[in-house]
Amino acid sequence: MDKKTNYLNLIENLDNLLEFDHFEMSILANSSALIKEMLKDVNWVGFYLLYNDELLLGPFQGKVACTKIRLGYGVVGTCAQKRASIIVPDVSLFPGHIPCDETTKSEIVIPLFIEGKIYGVLDLDSKKLKRFSSIDQRFLEQVAIIISKHLTREARQIRNI
Ligand code: SME
Repeated sequence: MDKKTNYLNLIENLDNLLEFDHFEMSILANSSALIKEMLKDVNWVGFYLLYNDELLLGPFQGKVACTKIRLGYGVVGTCAQKRASIIVPDVSLFPGHIPCDETTKSEIVIPLFIEGKIYGVLDLDSKKLKRFSSIDQRFLEQVAIIISKHLTREARQIRNI
């Protein structure tokens, strides 16, 4: 199956899967599981959620990871500060990259917004160099929009967003 078709399937499956979820953490946990299951060569998928000036580890699939990243630091904190996706083809060349798993070679981080405010980020790591392209970015931004859509009603109640 080509990359585009696989992403279209992921987006459709995710939208259906989240339709009946009514709890923020369940939405995030199942999203990370489905993304990890449907994408090739990805060793870590998860969320960092913004609380004040820190991004705190949310639900994820993969090895144990850093729990706290300051806004503006690492790929995660830079993405949240700039409110823009970041592709890192080679993590060893990203100044300030925070290594959680030594075998990770490339990374992509996508911001998540709730009603225009930054809520957190979606982070994917790979053991392959240059795993993520602009095609991945385009589709993962759509994935983030689906997740935000399902979070909106729940997050407002739980985290006062
Ligand atoms: N590498 C990230 C930290 C999170 S882990 O990849 C799970 C960073 O530099 O912000």
